[in-house]
Formats: sequence, C-alpha cells, structure tokens
Amino acid sequence: MKTYSVAIDGPAGAGKSTIAKAAAAQLRFIYIDTGAMYRAVALYAIRNDLPWDNAEGKLAAALDNIEIAIDYVEDSQHIFLNGEDVSGLIRTPQVSAGASAVATVQAVRIKLVELQRKLAKGKNVIMDGRDIGTHVLPDADVKIYLTASVDARAQRRYKELMEKGEKVDFETIKTDIIARDKNDSEREFSPLRQAEDALFVDNSNMNVEESVNYLISVIKEGIE
Ligand code: DC
Repeated sequence: MKTYSVAIDGPAGAGKSTIAKAAAAQLRFIYIDTGAMYRAVALYAIRNDLPWDNAEGKLAAALDNIEIAIDYVEDSQHIFLNGEDVSGLIRTPQVSAGASAVATVQAVRIKLVELQRKLAKGKNVIMDGRDIGTHVLPDADVKIYLTASVDARAQRRYKELMEKGEKVDFETIKTDIIARDKNDSEREFSPLRQAEDALFVDNSNMNVEESVNYLISVIKEGIE
C-alpha cells in the first residue's frame, strides 16, 4: 500500500507543531515532532554536564548512552529519554537554547536522522523540523516551508507562556527567537532552509485554524 510523507520545516515559533499535529489528527497521519528529539538530547547534556557544543567530543562520546524513543499516548506524541517520559521537561527556554546548540553537532544529527527515517518508513506521516524536506525525507510527497515574521512568532510565544502562567518578557523572547533563527540557519550541517520543491507559507496573518485548514488543503492536493 502506498504511504505518504509530509515534511514541514521552518523557524522557531511559526506554529509548526500545533499546526502539524492538528493536520495529522484530521488526516489520520502519524505526527512526528523531531525538535523534541533534539530537546531530549539537550536535556541529557544539561543533566550530565556535557558541553552543548561537543567540546572535546564529550557529547558525541555520550551518544551511545542516550536512547530516544517516541510513543503515542491518546494520540499525542510523548518523548522518552532512556525510558523516562520527558515530554513535559523539554519545553523550557534553557532546553530550547540547548537543543539549538546540540543540533549543530554532526554526530547528534546522524543519530537522530536515522531514528526519524526509521519512524517514517512505511507509514503515513507528517514530520516537522528544520531539515526534513532537505535532508531527512528528501522524497516527501508534500513539502511545506512554514514561517512568519519575527514579531508574529514572538507574540505567539509570549501569549503561550503567559497563558501557562510563566513570567515572561516580550523583548527577551524576541531576542531568543532571533538567536535561534541565526543558529539554526547558519550552522554547518543541515541548516534550516527551504527545500527547492517546498511550498513557502507565511502565516503571520493567519490564526491557527486558518493555518491548519490551509495546510490540510495543500496536503490533500499533494497526495491526491
Ligand atoms: O522545533 P523545536 O523548537 O522544538 O526545535 C528545537 C531545536 O532543535 C531547534 O532550535 C533546532 C533543532 N532542530 C533541528 O536542528 N532539526 C530538526 N529537524 C528539528 C529541530
């Protein structure tokens, strides 16, 4: 049976996960959040005092001790680090910065890309990340590059964190987003960029529902 894969790439805060998750649920595809995997590696590095930038090869040397797995609990993806469900622990600003840093290390990318390809094989999937259309799934049936202005992305993150009751400062969030964009797009291995055959979507002026509906229509068109 033919299976389909959808690659969604884009910078931090464009709403990729929210939108990809909703689209996957409606289309009954499996959603794979690859950012969560880099976040889990960052959490391991933080807990074990390993340098994020792989100084002295310490992070690469520890990779054999890191087992990342994903599983689905009531349709939502949970991420496991050496058997521990760390889904709730990887959404902090410290882990975000760490993920962006460990993602520049080639050995980390090789390990996680292998896992991502294995997970996507033979299934209908929507996978989101930074290098899915360019590197992980170059033959994806549909590729979307989803972005929004820095202000729109910072505004959304701000609102999200406020709603969670966290004390946040808008300018700090914006600075973090700019730093992550720079880090993710200027790194040497598989930097964030739009695949040549990806559809460019700027959702600065769309709400979540509009973005989801638009992406679903694009995906349906692409797999028909
Ligand atoms: O999507 P996210 O914010 O959860 O991703 C966290 C970091 O992981 C992001 O700053 C860059 C990195 N990442 C990556 O390099 N490649 C991916 N496919 C997914 C995420």
